[in-house]
Amino acid sequence: KKIVIFASGTGTNAENIIKYFQNTPNIQVVAVLSNRRTAKVLKKAHDLNVKALYFDRDALYHTREVYHVLKDINPDLIVLAGFLWIFPEYMLEEFSNKVINIHPALLPNYGGKGMYGPKVHEAVITNKEDESGITVHYVNEKYDEGQIIFQTTVKVDPNDTPDSLAQKIHKLEHKHFPEVIEKLLINDTQSA
Ligand code: GRF
Repeated sequence: KKIVIFASGTGTNAENIIKYFQNTPNIQVVAVLSNRRTAKVLKKAHDLNVKALYFDRDALYHTREVYHVLKDINPDLIVLAGFLWIFPEYMLEEFSNKVINIHPALLPNYGGKGMYGPKVHEAVITNKEDESGITVHYVNEKYDEGQIIFQTTVKVDPNDTPDSLAQKIHKLEHKHFPEVIEKLLINDTQSA
């Protein structure tokens, strides 16, 4: 089974997912694609011997170079891990039910365009929420609105800051995201 990851940032999730599947014979991360040339995630992937590719807006939305790369790979799952552009509709059609995203809060709350990274955690703390968490969901044509696959929560303490909450959430992501991916790919095999 082949996984392709899209990421724009530091890529701690991407790194963690790559490592998790390095010792499984049937599931591998085969490529990491990023829309930021200098994104740390590209170096991390490269250092772990995973194909690392940069693309620009044009290659995704117009010339469809990204699409052709994906068609060649023929992935079983496309994982967005800190990817901030809308996934094009023609690609969602082609890879329907094969594109998932992780969001660092309990959707449907604290999601949508512009709600990412520190902004999410700031809003959760400003609203004095007792808990936050993570959501893994299918991707559709709107930000953070696709069908939810998995959620789990973490307590927000009164003295949490956006930074400390971000750390807790990252830990949760690292623990659960690879397992959720693995389950999806295994169930996929059983129903095929
Ligand atoms: C994660 O918190 C994820 O929920 C969000 O973007 C962040 C990516 O973090 N979509 P990293 O680059 O994997 O460290």
